[in-house]
Amino acid sequence: MLATLAFVVDSIFLVLAVGALVFYICMIFGFWRGAPFVPSSHKVVADMIALARIQKGEQVYDLGSGDGRILIAAARAGAHARGWEIHPMLVWFTRLKAWWSGLGALVCVEAKSYWSADWKDADVIMVYLITSRMQEFKEKLMREVRPGTRVASHEFKIPGWEPSAQAGSVRLYIVP
Ligand SMILES: C[S@@+](CC[C@H](N)C(=O)[O-])C[C@H]1O[C@@H](n2cnc3c(N)ncnc32)[C@H](O)[C@@H]1O
Repeated sequence: MLATLAFVVDSIFLVLAVGALVFYICMIFGFWRGAPFVPSSHKVVADMIALARIQKGEQVYDLGSGDGRILIAAARAGAHARGWEIHPMLVWFTRLKAWWSGLGALVCVEAKSYWSADWKDADVIMVYLITSRMQEFKEKLMREVRPGTRVASHEFKIPGWEPSAQAGSVRLYIVP
């Protein structure tokens, strides 16, 4: 009886330890491919949604969608919210949250790098990247997206562009 209990406890710890290890390895991979997983606060998410003036039916993309909080907020505003996230556990967590919130039909997240995704249909792009990636981000924007696409960037500036509006640490840019 005691041996069985010890086996069950050991197994639970093993599963938790392996889960934590996978989580941190994926996080390091995310850091290497773009930016580490640091979620935007709910206040920042609200500022991003408000600043981008999301309209019902628009295509809103979150590059590196983390735990899906921006996608869910955009879907609540009536948008089709699409994200790419390199961390598989966060992808599944987002899907679970979207389903739980009844927004599964409006939220779509893929386990894939946003660098290899197609951004051309976006009406709004949300980003929380890192300074060293902003030039590369700008070049892909210029190559792919339509002029007039709104870009809400948390914290980091797009080099050489002036924001058209700002709320706290969120800047809104309009692609020229
Ligand atoms: C700073 S967090 C932002 C999360 C979310 N957008 C938010 O604001 O709450 C950056 C996210 O991008 C993911 N990431 C990093 N590089 C990526 C890449 N090349 N493709 C897809 N996701 C990536 C990380 O795993 C992390 O979850």
